[in-house]
Amino acid sequence: MVQPTKNGVKGKTKNSSQTQQTTPQAASGQKTGAAKATPPASHKAGTRKNGYKPLASMEEYEAVAKKALEDPEGYWGERAKSLLHWFKPWEKTLSYDFNEPRVEWFAGGKLNASYNCIDRHVEGPRRNKVALIWQGDPEDDVRIWTYQMLYDRVCRCASALKNIGVRKGDRVVLYLPMIPEAVVVMLACARIGAVHVFVFAGFSAASAQSRIQDCEAKVVITADGMFRAGRVMPLKANIDEALKDCPTVRRVIVVNRTNMSTSMKERRDIWWRDLMADRSLNARLPAVPMDAEDLLFILYTSGSTGKPKGVMHTTGGYLTYAAHTTQAIFDTREEDVHWCTADVGWITGHTYALYGPLLLGGTTVLFEGGPRWPDPDRYWQIIEKFRVNTFYTAPTAIRILIREGDEWLERSDRSSLRLLGSVGEPIDPETWHWYRDKVGDGNIPLVDTWWQTETGGIMISPLPFTTPLKPGSATKPLPGIDVSVVREDGKPAKVNEEGHLVINKPWPGMLRGIFGDPAKFKENYFSRFPGRYLSGDGVRMDEDGYLWLLGRLDDVINVSGHRFSTAEMEAAFNAHPSVAESSVVGMAHPVKGEVIYAFVQLNADEKATESIRSELRKWVRREIGPIASPEYIQFTEGLPKTRSGKIMRRVLRKIVSGQIDELGDLTTLSNPDVIDSLVEEYERLVGMSSMR
Ligand code: WT7
Repeated sequence: MVQPTKNGVKGKTKNSSQTQQTTPQAASGQKTGAAKATPPASHKAGTRKNGYKPLASMEEYEAVAKKALEDPEGYWGERAKSLLHWFKPWEKTLSYDFNEPRVEWFAGGKLNASYNCIDRHVEGPRRNKVALIWQGDPEDDVRIWTYQMLYDRVCRCASALKNIGVRKGDRVVLYLPMIPEAVVVMLACARIGAVHVFVFAGFSAASAQSRIQDCEAKVVITADGMFRAGRVMPLKANIDEALKDCPTVRRVIVVNRTNMSTSMKERRDIWWRDLMADRSLNARLPAVPMDAEDLLFILYTSGSTGKPKGVMHTTGGYLTYAAHTTQAIFDTREEDVHWCTADVGWITGHTYALYGPLLLGGTTVLFEGGPRWPDPDRYWQIIEKFRVNTFYTAPTAIRILIREGDEWLERSDRSSLRLLGSVGEPIDPETWHWYRDKVGDGNIPLVDTWWQTETGGIMISPLPFTTPLKPGSATKPLPGIDVSVVREDGKPAKVNEEGHLVINKPWPGMLRGIFGDPAKFKENYFSRFPGRYLSGDGVRMDEDGYLWLLGRLDDVINVSGHRFSTAEMEAAFNAHPSVAESSVVGMAHPVKGEVIYAFVQLNADEKATESIRSELRKWVRREIGPIASPEYIQFTEGLPKTRSGKIMRRVLRKIVSGQIDELGDLTTLSNPDVIDSLVEEYERLVGMSSMR
């Protein structure tokens, strides 16, 4: 039955006439900083039941931010102490040197992530509170676990991992769909001091292999297959493929998710249910006290070089930052249901679907499926079903749903929502308004949160109810976060001048390094502007001190909030026997933010046909993963190169952004004659697809 929305947003939209799509660039294209700030929604100030007291005004924000920068140890020390349980207090709050680089928070302190997420709640009145609401891809597949239930499972899993030889510091790779077992394994690893390394299930066998090799994993945990929009896809088969060359892996644990036929290798592979059926498992296995700077997890992400980087996060700082930012930005209340739609296999899922909410004793929703199946109102149905209060998703998901039409909103009651969040890419004002005014009631806060895998948690974001909002701006850094906008030469940029976003001081959630590659840690983040952390993002600050994020300045492409390095994509193309050379750039896209656009030069004896085009597309999906499907593959007789043989990607970027008249100085090109045919073929290819 179609129900009228209780949000009463119909006809109340300010922008209903502007239903055309805007690219994220529209947000950045808005060069003046003059967008007016909307006054924050009113809320009951004062202390929450859980003891949290939100900042009441921007004056208070300024004062707290000033104090936090003057005395970071005092500020973060208080946060760490009041948000976490420490087995042993730390000796030194912070010691660091951004030139080496080296960062240590809470050195000497002992704590455990699993204990903080579960045990301390089980010991108190939250024992029977719902920790996890899991909604499977099939509607009837729902699992609801209390903290006590989660505790039992995590202890037993930790005990089982110990039995198969997992020790403190060992790496355990998770290649799992969005199922509750993923959460159990993450917390079980943390419980015994093993390091969890999630490889998102959308990555290919080859991508899984290189990550397993890089971190020298001892154990891999996967599932037979996964559900996606009602279909079944194999996972274990990818792991079998990956493990052909991974000598460090001793055991593979397989969760039965889909009942598909699965081959099991004797002595190596074991079914999850058999592992967990052991009666002798210790359902009260104590959590191991870890040093604050012990590794909690590694997560691979793409940088400007070809090889993915294993970003390292440690226990004390990461947990402090996860708990603190969840509290400050989602204003988590005791009775809240929080839903972050990101897969737990990404940093957003790590921090805001799992660690943040559980550290605060909250209730978190995990959803296995996607926004459009079986119907494009799946998200809204889930919000209604579980009366979700705080909802956190990516602009690309919102833009997909805008396209499906407003009528899909009318069938659900979203009046439980009191806060909306956005993450992963710039949110253009058009999408911002639809999200806030139509998904929400036009009055609840929408927090546009900027951060990265490397930052561990949100860095720039409005504080709900406190910071006046400007659609398209992530507003201001959180108190204690010291950012600058700098020019190429490192000098401060002027008001509204575009520059590099850098971070001047350490924060507890920051990465501690790249696994196995300290030199890359320095080179990637601390060498461009010595003494400062380089984010890789472009930004400008308006006259009110609001930050407008403008996308990556390095060779990273952001497709629907997923990061790819152009070098990594090129390496995949170049590995194909028919390819001579390739160059990959990001192209603005109205729904996905950016898409992958590849210029490919085939071997001289190879004909550019549609069949080789589709073969290459399949090839790259196999090399990197289905999430890395190139949108456009343009064949070319040559790539624009400098005399020294370097491909001028700048020119290609201009071409795919349609700025044909602004290709810039081409005199340094060794082969300027390729330009005309590049432009012609681009126009044919892109023109053709837009007619489809
Ligand atoms: C890159 C980080 C941890 C967030 C999920 C993606 C872009 C992220 C925003 C935002 C503009 C954003 C940046 C950043 N990004 N959030 N609110 N506004 N851009 O994590 O894969 O590490 O990607 O995502 O370009 O550098 P990630």
